Amino acid sequence: MRVLITAGPTREYLDDVRYLSNASSGRMGYALAAAARALCWEVVLVSGPVELRPPAGCEVVNVETTSQMRDACVREFARCDGVIAAAAVCDYKPKERVEGKISKTGGPVTLEMIETDDVLAELGAMKDGRWVMGFALEARNPRENALQKLRRKNCDWILLNAPTAIGSDDNSVELLAPDGGTLADWSGSKSDVAQAIVEWIAARQR
Ligand code: CTP
Repeated sequence: MRVLITAGPTREYLDDVRYLSNASSGRMGYALAAAARALCWEVVLVSGPVELRPPAGCEVVNVETTSQMRDACVREFARCDGVIAAAAVCDYKPKERVEGKISKTGGPVTLEMIETDDVLAELGAMKDGRWVMGFALEARNPRENALQKLRRKNCDWILLNAPTAIGSDDNSVELLAPDGGTLADWSGSKSDVAQAIVEWIAARQR
């Protein structure tokens, strides 16, 4: 088994020194990479900027922006059997990146933002026999929103979790199928949850 795992946040620059991002630590993605390596899978870890050491034996592609993550994933997915998308991708970027540094105006500023690439949706669209597992981070109507995401991004399964997962050592996830059924749920340290997820996939793919 060769798996692509996305992890960590992405950054979108306003100018050469400032960016938008989120509080993702990358822990869930890195725990998944470690769990997959423990099963002797080949792992391609496409990671946004995090302060973690990648598990031994992973092929690591470090990226910063969503567009870099998209390019790396589209390239690497072609050589993988499946993907687990654990990255907390920055959904919007400034319409223009200013060269140098934006100066203060003395008043409020308005930033025009456009959507970034949806990495998982692109991988879902090109999956062609590969399996696709996404995460859904939901604050409201969790099941309904997670299922909409699963379908929109052409996932085989989606792991529903809550915003409290961001930056935490622990996680609580529910694994949903396209028909809306709950296939499993796990809680505990991100490491334990990651191991359960990867073992579930391994049992499925046997
Ligand atoms: N994802 C992605 N590229 C994006 C946004 C999300 O690959 N531009 C992936 C995430 O890695 C995750 C899944 O899509 O596996 C769902 O991410 P989530 O943040 O829950 O949803 P969004 O698609 O960003 O939608 P919203 O922010 O409206 O909830």
